[in-house]
Amino acid sequence: FPVDKIRNFSIIAHIDHGKSTLADRLLEMTGAIAKTDKNKQVLDKLQVERERGITVKAQTASLFYSHHGQQYLLNLIDTPGHVDFSYEVSRSISACQGVLLIVDANQGIQAQTVANFYLAFEAQLAIIPVINKIDLRNADPERVESQIEKVFDIPREECIRISAKLGTNVETVLKAVVDRIPPPLACPNDPFKALVFDSCFDHYRGVVTNVALFGGQVKKGDRIVSAHHSKTYEVNELGLLRPDEHPTQRLYAGQVGYIIAGMKDVKEAQIGDTLHLQDQPVEALPGFKPAKAMVFAGMYPMDQSEYPGLRSAIERLTLNDSSVTVQRDSSLALGAGWRLGFLGLLHMEVFNQRLEQEHNASVIVTAPTVPYKAILSSAKLIKEHGSEEITIVNPAQFPDRGVVSEYLEPVVLGTILTPDSYTGKIMSLCLVREARYPGIQAQNVFKETLLFFIFFSSLKSLEFLILHSFDYENAGYQTAELIKMDILLNGNPVEELATVVHRNRAYSTGKSMCERLKDTIPRQMFEIAVQAAIGSKIIARETIKAYRKNVLAKCYGGDITRKMKLLKKQAEGKKKMRLIGRVEVPKDAFINVLKRK
Ligand code: GTP
Repeated sequence: FPVDKIRNFSIIAHIDHGKSTLADRLLEMTGAIAKTDKNKQVLDKLQVERERGITVKAQTASLFYSHHGQQYLLNLIDTPGHVDFSYEVSRSISACQGVLLIVDANQGIQAQTVANFYLAFEAQLAIIPVINKIDLRNADPERVESQIEKVFDIPREECIRISAKLGTNVETVLKAVVDRIPPPLACPNDPFKALVFDSCFDHYRGVVTNVALFGGQVKKGDRIVSAHHSKTYEVNELGLLRPDEHPTQRLYAGQVGYIIAGMKDVKEAQIGDTLHLQDQPVEALPGFKPAKAMVFAGMYPMDQSEYPGLRSAIERLTLNDSSVTVQRDSSLALGAGWRLGFLGLLHMEVFNQRLEQEHNASVIVTAPTVPYKAILSSAKLIKEHGSEEITIVNPAQFPDRGVVSEYLEPVVLGTILTPDSYTGKIMSLCLVREARYPGIQAQNVFKETLLFFIFFSSLKSLEFLILHSFDYENAGYQTAELIKMDILLNGNPVEELATVVHRNRAYSTGKSMCERLKDTIPRQMFEIAVQAAIGSKIIARETIKAYRKNVLAKCYGGDITRKMKLLKKQAEGKKKMRLIGRVEVPKDAFINVLKRK
């Protein structure tokens, strides 16, 4: 295909505005897939994606389309549809020259529409506004067109009104892709240079990378290098994605396709990396950022006998997701497990759901935390750590106030798009959650700095926000009043229940942990004090009254075998207990306190 007959484009949209549905229609109309089940979304492959209706992993398809009597190659690069995956979206977009910006004809512009618009706008892409779901009874395409004109400064005449579900006007979209999006600026005579915008792992063939060729060509047997890792590989197979793999002899400048080159781990093919020929090095494409975990949680098997199974399940899943970090961890209460890092909360939930669904693993997931930082003041410690700044992902490693000059916590820049009537409500929520906001911008868009983690969970009470109009990007670190809180049972600290909290949230967190422990630790022969403490200061307390559970009370007669059985059962129950001082704590109590609610 000559470069001028190629179009590379993405569909960007707010969640649920119909990106996958439109993608399916485009595939059908160009014959890439059969017109069978109209509701089946081909590009969303994972089970969790179908269930949650969100795209997690990007899928890509090359389409052949005739227009003006000419054959065109249209490369549709699908992008994930959630805020946790904005880096993947930005990389997919950088492989394109244009985007279809979908807006729901009923809901209008939402926060992610704005965020995605800016990604495309900053990358100087052609933007085709598409108003979807015009078949809905309460669709108001007029209003949405005015919004698009006002917010994005795109003339309303450029908007295409469609129903992706019914296929109405979708042909116009295909024509617009050819007519309004420029061909890639890729030169076949340059050295081979390709952007990795996605990768996945295949058990038989290793890592399959999805690439966009910015220059030159590549064929089987070529020796290629990944710029970020400087590792060399031999190309075993390459081809187009339609959306299934179609092997070809070569890939040329401007094309989008897949390369298999003996990489064993997706971490070797990181999104945003550049591939080039071994003997023709090129400058790496800009914008590469290694994936960075922002939410950490412990994962443990329900029962230690399930450890090996869970380990291989986690290994298999991480083979396909280079952004998950895994560290072995162990807890006195929950046994051997792992501390995993994720891009965000949704990413973590999706991972957990896939573990359970695809690998049949039952896991205990602990309450997630964010990576805190501490600036050390002790010269000795600075020397030991090799730097002044340390990152803390585990409360057990939290350094004492005495050796620290400053604690820092991650913050995000959140964007909320809301009707005027909700602005007051959201602002008071922001105040409660200590979010700072520089002000309200035009068209009700306002940006603010906030603790995404805490903010996110509290937003659950205003669920419409999560679903419809919340977007965030990482915005570095800010000073925070952090403290380590211990939980004590009769004065003995319980190591695995130590947590890092904000000073002004310590009381409520401590109180809730004590209450949950009180509810799950059985009464014992003596009174138990359950306390939350900061250093030597007790900030919350619950008391479990003394009580002797007489297991023999139910046996009236003198049936000795029955008595023995009951005693044995009680002894077995005790084996699952952990002793803190003299207090017996069942595993359930730990799970109840540590587990994500
Ligand atoms: P993510 O993958 O999470 O980004 O969502 P999406 O943007 O891909 O949305 P999807 O295509 O899954 O569509 C969301 C819902 O809207 C589905 O229930 C679709 O059936 C429905 N939908 C999509 N297009 C139309 C349309 O033109 N009309 C109507 N009535 N419903 C539509």
